[in-house]
Amino acid sequence: MISAVRGTRDILPGEIERWQRLERVTRDVCERYGYLEIRTPVIEREELFKKGTGESTDIVQKEMYAFTDKGGERVTLRPESTPSMVRAFVEHGLEQHLVTPKLFSLGPMFRYERPQKGRYRQFHQLDIEVFGIADATLDAEVIEMASMLVRELEIEGVDLVINSVGCPSCRPGFHHALLEALGDRLPQLCNDCQRRAKTNPLRIFDCKVPTDQPTIDSLPHSVDYLCEACREHFDATKALLTAFGLACRVSHRLVRGLDYYTRTTFEILGENLGAQNALLGGGRYDGLMRQVGGPDRAGIGFAAGLERLVLAMPESGETWCPDAFVVAIGSEVRQPVHLLARDLRHAGLSTLVDYEVRSPRAQMKRAARTKARYVLIVGSDELERGEVSVKNMGTGEQTTVARDDVVSRLVGEKCLSK
Ligand code: HAM
Repeated sequence: MISAVRGTRDILPGEIERWQRLERVTRDVCERYGYLEIRTPVIEREELFKKGTGESTDIVQKEMYAFTDKGGERVTLRPESTPSMVRAFVEHGLEQHLVTPKLFSLGPMFRYERPQKGRYRQFHQLDIEVFGIADATLDAEVIEMASMLVRELEIEGVDLVINSVGCPSCRPGFHHALLEALGDRLPQLCNDCQRRAKTNPLRIFDCKVPTDQPTIDSLPHSVDYLCEACREHFDATKALLTAFGLACRVSHRLVRGLDYYTRTTFEILGENLGAQNALLGGGRYDGLMRQVGGPDRAGIGFAAGLERLVLAMPESGETWCPDAFVVAIGSEVRQPVHLLARDLRHAGLSTLVDYEVRSPRAQMKRAARTKARYVLIVGSDELERGEVSVKNMGTGEQTTVARDDVVSRLVGEKCLSK
C-alpha cells in the first residue's frame, strides 16, 4: 500500500472536530479585530521568497520545495505566507480598495524540515498581516490579539516573549558588535554560523548546535544597540502591553528565522510541546514591501502553527453525531424510509439510513453506535397508519408520531436542545 509522504499528515474524523473548532475561533477573533480573509496560491515564484524571506535564512537555503516547472519557470510551494500576502496586497492595489489594511489567511505551508512532534513538512498556518501602519500601538494590538487567540482556544501555560531587532540604520552597528564580540571564537562555531557571520550575523542566533550555545548566549543584545527611534518604538510597545495587563519577557535570542524583521519580534511559546514549542511568532517588517518591488510601506503580522495549537488545545470531547437514524423494517418500506430521510435533511437535520436490508436489531445497533439523537422506525404497519415510531436515544422514550408531523417535531426538538 502506498503511504503518505514523510512529514505530511492526514487529519482524520475524530481529530477534525478540534480543527473545526480552532478555525471557528480563529475566524471569530480575526473578525473582532477587523481582519479580512484572503486566500493566495500555494505555489509562487521562487524569487518572492528569496527576496522576501531572505537568501540567508534556513528556509531559503535548505527547506523550500522549489523546482523548475514544465515551462522552465522556477517556482516553489510556499514555505510561509507573509511574502505572498505582501505580493497580493501590491498586485491588487488593496491599499486603495479595502476599508482596512488588515488581512488574514489560513492554509498549508511546506518546508523540507526533519519531521518530529509539532514539526511537519506540510503544516498549516493562520497568518495575519497589517500593511502601512508603523505606529507602536499596532505592535501592541497585534501581540494582544495573538494572546487573545491563545486564550480563546483555552490553551494554558504559555509564555509571551518579545524583542526588538532594530532597523536598517541601527542594525549595522549591532552586526559589527556581534562580530567583534565573537572575535577569534568564530572558527569554533559550526559551518552554518561561519556562513551566517559573512551573510547576516543576526542569523547566528538561529543556531541550534548545542556546543555553540554558550558562545551565542554571551553575545551582545540587539536592544542595547537600538537607535533613538527604535528605542522609543520598543518602549511604547511595551508600555501598551503593560497597560493591557499582558506579562511578557524580553529575550535577546528572539531574532526569528526570517530576514525581513525590523523592530518588534515576538513569539508565544507553549509548555508541554517539547522542542517545537513556538505556538506562533511574528513581528514588524517595515522594509519588506519595498524589498519585493512594491511601494515603501510598513508591515507587521504573525503566523500561528495550527498543528501546534491543536496539540495544545484541551480535549473537548466533541464528535459529530447525527440528529436522526431511520430504521426500515422490511424491504418494502425502503423507499418511504429514503423519502423520510430526504425530508429530514431538507429541513436541516443530519440523517443516516441503512442501505442494506438488515434486521431491525442490526440497524438499531448501528444507530446506537452512531450516537444518533433519535431513531425513527418505519415498518409496513406504521406506513399503513401514516405514522412513524420515534425513539429518543437519550431518554429511551418511544412515541408514535404522524408521518406528516415528524419532521417539524424533530426540528422543534433540535431548536429546543440548542
Ligand atoms: P515562523 O516562525 O517561521 O514565522 O512560523 C510561524 C509558526 O508556524 C511557528 O511558530 C510554528 O507554530 C509554525 N511552524 C513553522 N514551521 C513549522 C513546521 N515545520 N511544522 C509545524 N509548524 C510549523 C512565519 O512563518 C512568518 N511568516 C510569521 C509572520 C507573519 N511574521 C510576520 N507576519
